[in-house]
Amino acid sequence: MFKVNVTLMKKCRINFWTIIIFSVYTFGCNSTEEIDPIIEDPKDQNDDKEEEVVAIPLKELFKDYFPIGAAITPQHADLATIHGEALVKHFNSVTAENVMKPESLQRNKGVYTWEGADRIVQFAKNNNLQVRGHTLTWHSQSPDWMFYDENGELLSREVASAQLEEHITTVMSRYKGDVYAWDVVNEAMSDWDPNGEIIYREDSPWYKIFGPSYIDSAFVFAHRADPEAKLFYNDYNSIFSWKRNKIYDLVKRLKDNNIPIDGVGLQGHWMIETSEQDIRTTLDLFRGLGVEIQITELDLPVYLSSNEEGSMVYTETFSQRQKQTYSMIFQVLLDYKDVITGVTFWGIGDDASWLDQPGRKAFPFLLDENLQPKPAYFEVQKLLN
Ligand code: XIL
Repeated sequence: MFKVNVTLMKKCRINFWTIIIFSVYTFGCNSTEEIDPIIEDPKDQNDDKEEEVVAIPLKELFKDYFPIGAAITPQHADLATIHGEALVKHFNSVTAENVMKPESLQRNKGVYTWEGADRIVQFAKNNNLQVRGHTLTWHSQSPDWMFYDENGELLSREVASAQLEEHITTVMSRYKGDVYAWDVVNEAMSDWDPNGEIIYREDSPWYKIFGPSYIDSAFVFAHRADPEAKLFYNDYNSIFSWKRNKIYDLVKRLKDNNIPIDGVGLQGHWMIETSEQDIRTTLDLFRGLGVEIQITELDLPVYLSSNEEGSMVYTETFSQRQKQTYSMIFQVLLDYKDVITGVTFWGIGDDASWLDQPGRKAFPFLLDENLQPKPAYFEVQKLLN
């Protein structure tokens, strides 16, 4: 019950018998300032503390900053699942990961499939979640009939434009008042090109039919369909100078021409070594245009590069990396709360991510495989205290 600590006794300048007597009352010397009590490793103490901290739901943490969202499947839109439970606990916004894309809603011309999208919207309405719509005009996950005739030839501008307008109008009208924002055009800009000459994604069938003007048309159609909806241009790699400048020029051109665009979606498929300066410079740039900014598809895989060996286990190394980078990212986002109007993760928790590969899980979120807060979550929480 009582351990004799010789060093402690010496430090306190008291002899053995004195300590026996006084221990009855005090269980030892109280001058803790000078003395390290016997055992504990400071690291263990910190770990203990971390476990004791109660996680504050994400939507509470960020309530004075921005809505916080997750990309979901219709199966997640169910309170009887751990996903549904996590959604209502942590999030106040959702996006359909796939079921509002053109190939999901209108795989065959004129035949709409609403079931999955309706289910998400209904779940969101029942549980006070906003819905971000994704996406109306994209070169990918869009049916061939939007671009090609029965002989495989590109459609005329007139036909393609009428079909695009019909699609946008039908989809946005159905969810008018329920979907507050739409990614009207997704990924229209070209990626890195050595000479920096290629502005638009020229192999997109939209571009092949129209040149860049399909972007303008899509925003006009969208505004006509739902004048209240917030309209976004959304893209990835958007924090790198070689791409953000192209996006900047596009958005500026649209605004200068009075094309109704409200904001830019930075997808936010970021990396452990993503540069803080790149994010800040990008946010400054778009803030200067007077548009809203949303982080629309945030995820942060644990690997340093695609060459790093895959793992199915979430290691301490991964945890440390993610704590640091997530903390940096959210510190930056908090600093830009005046222009950031939403932050959406591209999933809910580490159980499922579009980045997972056989033998190589991405573990890209703040919630783990059981949808419980990870150490990175607590690190982010610290920023708000
Ligand atoms: C991804 C989905 O997460 C996957 O399930 C699907 O197989 C492919 O598309 N940029 C986007 C998203 O705008 O629509 C993509 O979503 C991820 C990259």
